[in-house]
Amino acid sequence: TNPSLLILPGDGIGPEVMAEVRKIIDWFGAKRGLNFDVSEDLVGGAAYDAHGTPLHDDTMARAHAADAVLLGAVGGPKYDVLDFSVKPERGLLRLRKEMDLFSNLRPAQCFDALADFSSLKKDVVAGLDIMIVRELTSGVYFGEPRGIFEEGNERVGINTQRYTESEIARVARSAFELAMRRGKKLCSMEKANVMESGILWREVVTEVGRDYPEVELSHMYADAGAMQLTRWPKQFDVIVTDNLFGDLLSDLAAMLTGSLGMLPSASLGAPMANGRPKALYEPVHGSAPDIAGQGKANPIACILSFAMALRYSFDQGAEAARLEAAIETVLADGLRTADLMGPDGGTPVSTAGMGDAILA
Ligand code: NAI
Ligand code: MG
Repeated sequence: TNPSLLILPGDGIGPEVMAEVRKIIDWFGAKRGLNFDVSEDLVGGAAYDAHGTPLHDDTMARAHAADAVLLGAVGGPKYDVLDFSVKPERGLLRLRKEMDLFSNLRPAQCFDALADFSSLKKDVVAGLDIMIVRELTSGVYFGEPRGIFEEGNERVGINTQRYTESEIARVARSAFELAMRRGKKLCSMEKANVMESGILWREVVTEVGRDYPEVELSHMYADAGAMQLTRWPKQFDVIVTDNLFGDLLSDLAAMLTGSLGMLPSASLGAPMANGRPKALYEPVHGSAPDIAGQGKANPIACILSFAMALRYSFDQGAEAARLEAAIETVLADGLRTADLMGPDGGTPVSTAGMGDAILA
């Protein structure tokens, strides 16, 4: 049987960029004999409009059953007035939570044709290809106690950084597995100099590393890591870090390379019966209501998210590389959606124009 892929286009530019991914999926079936059982469903505002909830239980069940889920984007001004419990974002949060997606992969990859887009010097970013693995379901965003309390005659705001050994071990394992498929280098970032959770983090990552003798493991304090990421990012291959540091470092790393319209992501959970992790792939960007419906959206972030699915859920690394090479070629040819239009211009293309050029 073919691997199954659940597609949730969502709102705003989500369906527009996903339409280009559908063309590419069809192409892989027709030209490369790589067939998927693709089904499509609603999420976010679109699901709210149809069912009064941003994620129907049936959709949740289909997400659990799928080999991978590919999501566009959710949200939009139309839904800003809704109660928090049915806001579009809740659909996405429910997917992430119920699938227990603890490992968030954010690549920072620089296509040579866009190296001028970076705020850093061209030679610092040209050819850059690193991956940040952020722990996504624990740490200071979830730890108890949390809240704003009265203490004496003033208020105190409390959050708790808390990591169990097993939470650290599972995200570390996912980062080592990734490093094995890439450059076999892993850098773990924490602040073991000032945080107990950082000391435990370093110990557990080191222990897990004994199962991966081929991977060269290093440790860095996260603040020093931020400096090194901007000084010479090409020293890294895979970086693994906690939820808070990962939030900051992945945003920083993403902007080494340029436009929001270029950034894919993956969120992985525990292995399923077939050995593959539960997985949700999505562009980093949102529903971009300011350009929705105008054919201006850059579909590359969503297409690269599908390339990540090929690589990490379907073991099709060579086909993923084929797709990425097509994107590189189109960019080198000077084709640009509006968000990529630099000072020296380029050939303007629409969302569909970009998708068609990549296909060609
Ligand atoms: P956004 O990412 O939708 O847009 C930020 C800016 O980047 C806009 O100017 C937009 O036009 C541009 N942009 C984004 N993606 C682009 C693409 N593919 N091609 C060209 N330009 C692109 O973030 P914003 O405006 O803060 O949020 C808009 C809506 O999206 C809100 O309802 C927000 O809650 C939701 N959102 C959803 C996310 C998701 O589904 N994962 C993530 C972030 C925001
Ligand atoms: Mg962030």
